[in-house]
Amino acid sequence: MKVSGKHWSGIRNMDGYKASWYKEWFGEDYLTVYKHRDNNDARRLTALIVHYCSPKELNTVLDLACGNGRHSFLLAKHFKHVIGLDLSRHLLDRARRARKNGDACPCFVRADMRLLPFKGHFDLVASLFTSFGYFNDDGQHRRVAEEISRVLKQGGYFVMDYFNADYVKQHLVPEGERIMEGMLIREKRWIEKGRVFKKITIEKNGRPKSFYEAVRMFSREEMVTMFSRAGIEIRHIFGDYDGSPFTSRAPRMILFGNKK
Ligand SMILES: C[S@@+](CC[C@H](N)C(=O)[O-])C[C@H]1O[C@@H](n2cnc3c(N)ncnc32)[C@H](O)[C@@H]1O
Repeated sequence: MKVSGKHWSGIRNMDGYKASWYKEWFGEDYLTVYKHRDNNDARRLTALIVHYCSPKELNTVLDLACGNGRHSFLLAKHFKHVIGLDLSRHLLDRARRARKNGDACPCFVRADMRLLPFKGHFDLVASLFTSFGYFNDDGQHRRVAEEISRVLKQGGYFVMDYFNADYVKQHLVPEGERIMEGMLIREKRWIEKGRVFKKITIEKNGRPKSFYEAVRMFSREEMVTMFSRAGIEIRHIFGDYDGSPFTSRAPRMILFGNKK
């Protein structure tokens, strides 16, 4: 598949930015910068999923963009067959190494979420911790929604844990600096062209390197419409991992739906 790597011109502070930033960012440095998003978060979200979708009736689960597999391992305690899929070789390697010897589940597959290497056999597809909205045109986001729908069984469940755009607008911290594991981490955040951007500069032994994130700020209506057009009816939206309601002040937008 052709994936654009062209520079995103005309946007400030964007030295070295590539539209395919997600191919470079999700490695070891990502795990350090997001260390605070640990297994506790994953446990709370998994509990919400298990509460909403009855594991007794559902067998096959796809953890789409699974990263190092933190949710895949927890989901595998409740669902029989869990597959974690990701594009990052590094994070998949971490996930595979974390699997206990002889365990068949979860298993991990490398692929692009725009072209899923499966037929429609999943009871549940989960896209967790803002693993969507990375592409520079909405056609590619629609393509992911269609792929999710295609690999779901009829009536199968879909869950997406995304940020709440209103909350991000209200709480955006433009700059921050911290030290983690001997690295100085500087983060700059801004909103432009319907996306929330983050430039992350990591300085180790006096040598700085920069990464970017650029994630589309989908509203609730845009998400519901996009998935509905792809054949997935969104039935419920939570505002946080504790199952609280979705409001403009909620930190998360956690959508639950079913394939029509
Ligand atoms: C924010 S991380 C979340 C990972 C994981 N869900 C978690 O909660 O820890 C987003 C993940 O999306 C993956 N990713 C990015 N672009 C992708 C693509 N085109 N296809 C599949 N995975 C992708 C990254 O490699 C990364 O692991």
